[in-house]
Amino acid sequence: MLCRMKTYSVAHTALKISRLAYGCMRLGGTWDDAPLTPTDRARARRAIETALSHGINFFDHADIYYRGKTEIVFADALRELGVPRASVILQSKCGIRLADTPAPGAPTRFDFSYAYILDAVQHILERLQTEYLDLLLLHRPDALVEPEEVARAFDALHQRGMVRHFGVSNHTAAQIQLLQKFVSQPIVTNQVQVNLLHADLIDDGLFFNVTPRGYTGLSGTLDYCRANDILIQAWAPLAGGALIEPAPAASERARAVAALIADIAHARNTTREALALAWLLKHPAPIQPILGTTQPERLAACCRADKVTLSREEWYLLLQTARGASVP
Ligand SMILES: NC(=O)c1ccc[n+]([C@@H]2O[C@H](COP(=O)([O-])OP(=O)(O)OC[C@H]3O[C@@H](n4cnc5c(N)ncnc54)[C@H](OP(=O)(O)O)[C@@H]3O)[C@@H](O)[C@H]2O)c1
Repeated sequence: MLCRMKTYSVAHTALKISRLAYGCMRLGGTWDDAPLTPTDRARARRAIETALSHGINFFDHADIYYRGKTEIVFADALRELGVPRASVILQSKCGIRLADTPAPGAPTRFDFSYAYILDAVQHILERLQTEYLDLLLLHRPDALVEPEEVARAFDALHQRGMVRHFGVSNHTAAQIQLLQKFVSQPIVTNQVQVNLLHADLIDDGLFFNVTPRGYTGLSGTLDYCRANDILIQAWAPLAGGALIEPAPAASERARAVAALIADIAHARNTTREALALAWLLKHPAPIQPILGTTQPERLAACCRADKVTLSREEWYLLLQTARGASVP
C-alpha cells in the first residue's frame, strides 16, 4: 500500500518533492567496468520499489555514478516496474570527469565547459531513457569555470527541453552568486554533505566570531540558500551508516552521538535511522536528505523519519554531543 510522505515545494518550479529523496549512487554494482549482474538489477528494482511504496518521488543521480551503470540499471528497473515517467522527479549531475577518460593519463578534473555539459546531459538522457531531466546539478565547483559558458549551456538545454530546472552541488554562497550573475534560470538547489558528524554547513553560522573557530570556508552558504529559496539537499545524511553503527575505530564523539541517537529513538519508539534523519528534517532551511542505503529494510527504517519531529532541546543535545562541546 502506498503511504504518503510530506512534501517540499521547490521555489521557482511547480515541483512537489518528497521530503526524503532516494540517492541511487550505490545501485550501479561496482565502480569498475564490470557489467551489471542480475543481482545488481534485482537489488535496484527492490530499492526503487521500496522507495516508491514509502512515498518517495525524487531520485538523485550523477553521470559518473558507477561509470554510468547506476543510471542504466535505474532506468531499466523503472521500465520493468511500469513506473510512468511523469510520476517521478529525476535529478542528475555533471561536471566531474574521471581519471583516464576519455584517454589514459587524464587526471580527475572538473569541466563546466559548454561542450562538455551538453555532451554529458545527452548521455545522461540516453542512459536514463528519458527525454528530459527535472533537475540538472553541477556536481562540484570547477576552478576554471567561465559562468558565461555555463549560462549558454543552460539556455541550450532549457530551450531544447532537455532540462527543466538547474541547481548545484558542493557550492559555496559566493560560487552560486557568481553563477547566478550570468545564468538566467534560477538555481533552485544546492546539494551538500551534511549530517551530525559533518555539520560544517550549520556550524558555520553557529560559530562565526567564536574563538578559535572564527572562520569556516562555507561563509554563509546555508543562510544564502535560505534567503534565496535554494533548497538544501543533504548527501551522506547518515554519514554512510556511521551514525547508526560506528566502526570499531570511530571517534569517541561518533560513538557518543550514535548512542544518543539509539537512546532517543528507543524512547520515541522509532528507528535510529529515522531519528538521525529527523535531525536534518528539523532544520527550517529546509533540508532534503538524500538516502543512500541499498537495503529495503534500512530504507523503510529511514522513511519513518517523516513522522518524527525533534524538540529544540533534542536537536541541540544531538548537535552538542556530535561536536563534543557545548554551543557558546
Ligand atoms: N553531491 C555529491 O557530491 C554526492 C556525494 C556522495 C553521494 N551523493 C548522493 O547522496 C546519496 C546518499 O549518500 P550516501 O550513500 O553516502 O548516504 P548515507 O545514507 O549516509 O549512507 C548509505 C551507506 O551507509 C550504509 N549503511 C550502513 N548502515 C546503514 C543503516 N543502518 N542505514 C542506512 N545505511 C546504512 C549503506 O549500506 P547498505 O547499502 O548496505 O545499506 C550505504 O553504503 C548517494 O546515493 C548519492 O545520490 C552525492
